[in-house]
Amino acid sequence: MITLTVNPGGRLQGIVHVPGDKSISHRSIIFGALAQGVTEIHGFLNGKDCLATLAAFRAMGVSIEGPDKGRVVIHGVGIDGLHAPEAPLDMGNSGTAMRLMAGLLAAQSFNCQLIGDASLSRRPMGRVAAPLAQMGARIDTQAGGTPPLKIRGTPGLSAIDYAMPVASAQVKSAVLLAGMYADGTTCVSEPAPTRDHTERMLATFGYDVKRTGNRVCLAGGGKLTAAAIEVPADISSAAFFMVGAAIAAGSEITLQGIGVNPTRIGIVNLLRQMGARIDLINQRQVGHEPVADIHVTGGELHGITIPEDQVPLAIDEFPALFVAAACASGRTVLTGAEELRVKESDRIAVMAEGLHKLGIAAHPTPDGIEIEGGQLTGGQVDSHGDHRIAMAFAMAALRADGPVTITDCGNIETSFPGFAALAAGAGLRVTQAQT
Ligand code: S3P
Repeated sequence: MITLTVNPGGRLQGIVHVPGDKSISHRSIIFGALAQGVTEIHGFLNGKDCLATLAAFRAMGVSIEGPDKGRVVIHGVGIDGLHAPEAPLDMGNSGTAMRLMAGLLAAQSFNCQLIGDASLSRRPMGRVAAPLAQMGARIDTQAGGTPPLKIRGTPGLSAIDYAMPVASAQVKSAVLLAGMYADGTTCVSEPAPTRDHTERMLATFGYDVKRTGNRVCLAGGGKLTAAAIEVPADISSAAFFMVGAAIAAGSEITLQGIGVNPTRIGIVNLLRQMGARIDLINQRQVGHEPVADIHVTGGELHGITIPEDQVPLAIDEFPALFVAAACASGRTVLTGAEELRVKESDRIAVMAEGLHKLGIAAHPTPDGIEIEGGQLTGGQVDSHGDHRIAMAFAMAALRADGPVTITDCGNIETSFPGFAALAAGAGLRVTQAQT
């Protein structure tokens, strides 16, 4: 059991390098494995979630070197080159790994099983099993649509034109991965823009994918060609530092080489609306992804009503944003975010519980929360094993009037290995203990 203890006060300063993007790292392994030729990746996230994806491909016969300081070399086996794994594939804590792999494995010529940890085993998989079944896939979930997934590989899936009921990049990606193996052209329409790393990376690997408005299509039967991949730093990890710097007077940080894909920058848009001083500097293109350095200075924030169109663009950043809201003057209102209830934890309930422990009035609603800004107290908060809850509450201590202790923090390793040391180097008064 890892516990973080964060002494109150302080500020964040300096140049901060957060690890590689989790979504892009997963996809770099998947497409690199399926490509013809050798793919070299730099900036790969050496977190447990992405290592689960990497291990799954090794178990299916793909030779992968690394990770070694962010460098991974994949000897691609081609789109039809995977072999049956000998044991169930363990996706750990990672919803992205399980849902994307479900789409890919549905189309293979072998059977397999996908399993996960206690948190992942509670998460909904019907959202991928249903459209994949329409394509002819045979995936059994547990009653209630949860993992483990038993997948009977079905070559020769049929293309579908799928209108997603939820704005989910994982569902979109699962259907597109299956679509690469389907007869005909598979299309997915999204009710709101979601992260488009799959589409960008398909293009990087030379697979034709077309977007018209909110609809993405690809034809089955193509091939992927090995590519060089530079993974930008993860804006979702940078978000904790952005919030920390924004709430702590006297802070000034520059987060370097952050992916600023327009489908991911809700955190920047929303913090700016709250009054934060954030500049994107040195904007550039790295491969098919936009990258910038993000400069943040501390100041006063005010509460806002969060526009619903920003919700999918900031979907993983709400734990951090709730901490910003707790430190802002006035009320922040979030609606249209029921998806937060089916993340690594129920992030509405767990954040409300933690904010109450720190003396903040937070009223959960079925699809969001209302937070009244105020003075945070010290206290003990349970992260419920959710990495982003743990890191968000660590930053809250910058504005608390006593120490904040956060329990069950081991899963920080899934997305942000080295968080405590990096945060301490930037000025957070954090120590980590193992019991
Ligand atoms: C992800 C998509 C999002 C996000 C998750 C990563 C991805 O999930 O919350 O952390 O890499 O495609 P949904 O597709 O469920 O919105």
